[in-house]
Amino acid sequence: MISATCVAPVNIALIKYWGKRHEDLILPVNDSISMTLSTDELCAKTTVCASESFEENRMWLNGEEVPFEGSSRLQRCLKEVRRLALSNGSTKVPPAWKLHIASVNNFPTAAGLASSAAGYACLVYSLSRLYGIPLDEELTTVARQGSGSACRSLYGGFVQWHRGALDDGSDSVAKQIAPSNHWPQMHVLILVVNDERKKTASTKGMQQAVKTSQLLKHRVDKVVPERIEQLRDAIAAHDFQTFAELTMKDSNQFHAIALDTYPPCVYMNDVSHRIVSFIHDYNEIMGSYQAAYTFDAGPNACLYVLEENVPHLLNAIQKVFPSGSIENTTYLRGLSVPKVDNSHSLESAKQSKIDSLDINARNAFRYIIHTKVGEGPTELSADNSLLSNGLPLGH
Ligand code: PMV
Repeated sequence: MISATCVAPVNIALIKYWGKRHEDLILPVNDSISMTLSTDELCAKTTVCASESFEENRMWLNGEEVPFEGSSRLQRCLKEVRRLALSNGSTKVPPAWKLHIASVNNFPTAAGLASSAAGYACLVYSLSRLYGIPLDEELTTVARQGSGSACRSLYGGFVQWHRGALDDGSDSVAKQIAPSNHWPQMHVLILVVNDERKKTASTKGMQQAVKTSQLLKHRVDKVVPERIEQLRDAIAAHDFQTFAELTMKDSNQFHAIALDTYPPCVYMNDVSHRIVSFIHDYNEIMGSYQAAYTFDAGPNACLYVLEENVPHLLNAIQKVFPSGSIENTTYLRGLSVPKVDNSHSLESAKQSKIDSLDINARNAFRYIIHTKVGEGPTELSADNSLLSNGLPLGH
């Protein structure tokens, strides 16, 4: 029996991927750029195990067995990994051996965070370790076929997924723009919003957008190519002002396209819109961009903020959206936040403007996660395995 256990990160797009030019190969209509989040706070963990004695392929997700043959995307990833193993001359896993796979997320699925990106990145990376194939651009084409955004979770730091031009998708790859230690001060607050609505799944939402949104054509032809260049430059120059403006504008355009889709897709809710207007008020009071919001296909806000500005931002959030105590680690999860002391207090004019902001909404957030830019996937030692003798622990 051989096995590999790995963790892989979540990534949050700054320039969004929305729309496919090929459904099965998952080829996007435009390039996208994301930042990878630290696996200390959010990650998927996967164990893949191969043995001569397994009678069939089996898989467990968050402890529940799921039909292995039921997912065409999973089948495709496995087929591609085997093809790469063959072309690399790796014979680590004999072709007749069956697989057992267990995968968990360390964050609640109810948080509505992009779990499929971390999940497929972790699956493909763990398979690559098991089969003995390198992490390179070609491996990102395999993760892409599990879930588009998963290809960006194979690298840490800042990552660009190139749409590519070839019909077979071989040039639709993710590449690292800058490693996490290029801008380690880049922190993130995820505001997990209370919301029970049923939203259109991203696959369906994208299909409808490509079919019906005129605005998407303009975005793909004109807007994204310019933004990609500008954001790459901003990241290279540690230019938070440009970074923040592009990120917020791109989130807004993505949601404008969702509304321009017919019938429309509504992902943000009332609280999301209140967060947007709060961040604009806050930045205005502070006299420069101190925080930037972005929203994926759901109502939760992801706020990018430099480390030194986290305490003041969090104080203002607490004032405007009182929900829970930041002393309480089930409300404020993840990295701890230093208290604002006298040596770091705001100028009094700014402080009094913050103090005079009205309460916008109470109990709007379930909790807040504080995290930062992080590394790509890593392999863990065997004592971290989720399988014992090929079965989930506790079975
Ligand atoms: O990879 P998917 O199908 O989960 O789509 C991700 C879409 C967005 O999260 C909204 C944008 C992105 O680039 O991650």
